[in-house]
Amino acid sequence: MSIRVNFQLVIVSVVCFGVCSVCGDDIEVDLANYHPANKNTYRMYTNVSEDLMKIKIKNINDDVGFFILQIHSYIENLTLSYNSTFGPSSFVTGTNIGLIYGDSKSSAKFYLFRNIKYYSNASVLIVVSIYDALDPVPGGCNLSFANMVAPYQIVSYTDDYIAIDSQPPSAYGISCDNNTIQVEMYHLFLNENDNNINTYFEGIDKMLTVDNIRSYGRKVPSNSENFFYHRLFSSYRGTGEVFAIVSTYNNRSSAYVPAVSYGCDLVNWDISCIGPVTGFWKFVCALLLIFGLITCFYGHVFFKVTLFTMGLSFGVLITYFAITMDGHFAVEEKMVTSLIIGFFYGIIWIFIWWKFGVPVLSVHLNFILTGFLLASVIFYAGLADVYIYHSNLNFWVTFLCIMLACIIISAAVTMYGHIFGCSLLGSYAFFTALNYYLGGNLQYIIINTYRRATVKYFNNAVISPPFQVTDIVHSIAWIVIVVLGFYVQVRDQRGKPPFPPNRNGIILANTESERTPLIQPEGAAAPNYVY
Ligand SMILES: *[C@@H]1O[C@H](CO)[C@@H](O)[C@H](O)[C@H]1NC(C)=O
Ligand SMILES: *[C@@H]1O[C@H](CO)[C@@H](O)[C@H](O)[C@H]1NC(C)=O
Ligand SMILES: *[C@@H]1O[C@H](CO)[C@@H](O)[C@H](O)[C@H]1NC(C)=O
Ligand SMILES: *[C@@H]1O[C@H](CO)[C@@H](O)[C@H](O)[C@H]1NC(C)=O
Ligand SMILES: *[C@@H]1O[C@H](CO)[C@@H](O)[C@H](O)[C@H]1NC(C)=O
Ligand SMILES: *[C@@H]1O[C@H](CO)[C@@H](O)[C@H](O)[C@H]1NC(C)=O
Ligand SMILES: *[C@@H]1O[C@H](CO)[C@@H](O)[C@H](O)[C@H]1NC(C)=O
Repeated sequence: MSIRVNFQLVIVSVVCFGVCSVCGDDIEVDLANYHPANKNTYRMYTNVSEDLMKIKIKNINDDVGFFILQIHSYIENLTLSYNSTFGPSSFVTGTNIGLIYGDSKSSAKFYLFRNIKYYSNASVLIVVSIYDALDPVPGGCNLSFANMVAPYQIVSYTDDYIAIDSQPPSAYGISCDNNTIQVEMYHLFLNENDNNINTYFEGIDKMLTVDNIRSYGRKVPSNSENFFYHRLFSSYRGTGEVFAIVSTYNNRSSAYVPAVSYGCDLVNWDISCIGPVTGFWKFVCALLLIFGLITCFYGHVFFKVTLFTMGLSFGVLITYFAITMDGHFAVEEKMVTSLIIGFFYGIIWIFIWWKFGVPVLSVHLNFILTGFLLASVIFYAGLADVYIYHSNLNFWVTFLCIMLACIIISAAVTMYGHIFGCSLLGSYAFFTALNYYLGGNLQYIIINTYRRATVKYFNNAVISPPFQVTDIVHSIAWIVIVVLGFYVQVRDQRGKPPFPPNRNGIILANTESERTPLIQPEGAAAPNYVY
C-alpha cells in the first residue's frame, strides 16, 4: 500500500479495544454492507455531547483499500484524531474534517474531541467514504499541511474572497513529484441568506460522492497550476457555498472532504453575514432608493439634478477606488470620505453645465457610468471566468473597450443614450438598495469590479456568482424597470427639444423670440423643464 497513515493506530486499537467496548459513549460504524464497488457512502447524523468520543469502525471488508472518515459539524470546531492524545500530525481541527485509514485491519478507532463547546449538543454528520486500493488518494501528497495524508480542505476568508487550500492527491505507483492525477473543483451554493442547520447538512450531503458532486456542483473553470491548491472564490457574504474536489486517475475517481463557507462569521450572523445594520447604511440605502427611482423615471427631465447625481456617483466611485488602494480605512470612513468628495464632483459638474451649456459634453459622465455598469454586468455574467481574463491586461483592455463602445453608441444618439443611461443607472441603484433590505446579490456586479481593481490576486479568483430565485426575480424586474423608465421618459420627451437650454441658451432664446411664429405648430408643447 502506498498510503502513508499512522500505523501506530493499530497498536491503539488493540490496546483500547477491551477497555473502551464498555464505554457507553462510543459511536459505532458498521461497514459490513459497504464495498468500494457499489459506491455506497456511509452517513450518520448524531448528537455529540461528551468532550471525548470514540468512533469505532468495524467489519471493514477485505476489498476496501482505504476509507475517509469525515466529520461535519455546524459552527462548532471539532478535533478528529488517530490517537487519544494529540501527537504531531495525527489530528485535524475544524468543522469539515476527515482522516484517512488505509490499513488492512477489519476495525479501526478514531477519537473525536470537543475543545470549545459552542452548543451543549453538537449536531454532527459522520460520513465514511470507501475506496478501492487503486483509487487516487485525496490529499495524499504532502505540500504544507500538518498531516501526511490530508483529504480535507482548509477554508479561510476575507471580506473579498474565500480561500480554499488543499493538497495534491496521490495514487498507487505514482510519485508525488510527477503527478499526473487530474483534479477538478466544484462548488455549490446553498440558499441565499439561509443559515439553517438543515440546509447546511443537505448541502454537504449533495457533495459527498463523486457522482453527486458532478451532478449537483458547478465546475470551477481550470486555472493556472500554481493556484490550484490555493483557490480563491469571490465572496458572496451570507450565501453558503460547499466546495468539493474530485481527483481522477485511470478512470478512477475519489472525492475530498467537502468544505463549507458562508464568507462571514456564522456566530454573528446578523452583523457579519446579513450586512451592516448601522443607521449610516440605512441612510445611504434610503438615498439610493429614492434617487434611483427619480433618476430612472425623471432623470432626463430633472436634468440638473441628474447632472449632480452623476457627478456625485462618479466622484464617489473614483474616490472609493482610490482610497482603497491605500488600504488604511474602515468601510464607513471610506464611504463618508468619498461621499463628501463626490459632493464636490457633483457641484463642479453642475458648474460646468452652467458655464458652457454643452449637452453633449455634460451627458458624457452618464455615458461613462453606463459603460462601466454594462461592462461590469458582462464580466459578472460569466466573462470574468473565461481563462484569458485572468490576465489583468486582457481584462482591463476589454473592459475599457466595452465602455468605449457604449460611450460612442450613446453619443451617436445623444438624447436616447442619456435617457437609457438614466434608466439603467437609476434602476440599478434602486435594486442595489432594495437588495440591502430584501437580500439578493446584484450589488456584487459593481463590487466584483471593485475587488478586481483593488484586491491583490483577485484576478485568480472564481467569480461564478449565485443566481437564485431572488436574483432571477430582481434581474427580470431590473430589465422591466429599465424598459419602463426608458419608455416613460421618451414619451414625456415628445415634442420637446432634446436637451434643456442652459442660462446662455435662455438668453439666446429670448432675443430670438420676436422672430418665432406666433402660432405654435400643433402638438408641439412649449419646453417645460423643471430645474
Ligand atoms: C498515542 O499517544 C500515546 C501517548 O502519547 C503514544 O504512546 C502512542 O504511541 C500514540 N499512538 C499513536 C497511534 O500515535
Ligand atoms: C439532536 O438533538 C436535537 C435537539 O438538540 C434533536 O432535535 C435531534 O433529533 C437530535 N438528533 C439525533 C440524531 O439524535
Ligand atoms: C443531546 O443529544 C442526546 C442524544 O441524541 C439527546 O438524548 C439529548 O436530549 C440532547 N440534549 C439536548 C439538550 O438537546
Ligand atoms: C473555529 O476555528 C477557526 C479557525 O481556527 C476559528 O476562526 C473559528 O472562530 C472557530 N469557530 C468557533 C465557533 O470557535
Ligand atoms: C508536510 O510538509 C510540510 C512542508 O514541507 C512539513 O513542514 C510537514 O512536516 C509535512 N508533514 C508531514 C506529516 O510530513
Ligand atoms: C513522469 O511520468 C511519465 C510517465 O509515468 C514519464 O514518462 C515522465 O518521464 C515522468 N517525468 C518526470 C519528470 O519524472
Ligand atoms: C474509462 O471508462 C470509459 C467508460 O466507462 C471507457 O470507455 C474507457 O475505455 C475507460 N478508459 C480507461 C483508460 O480505462
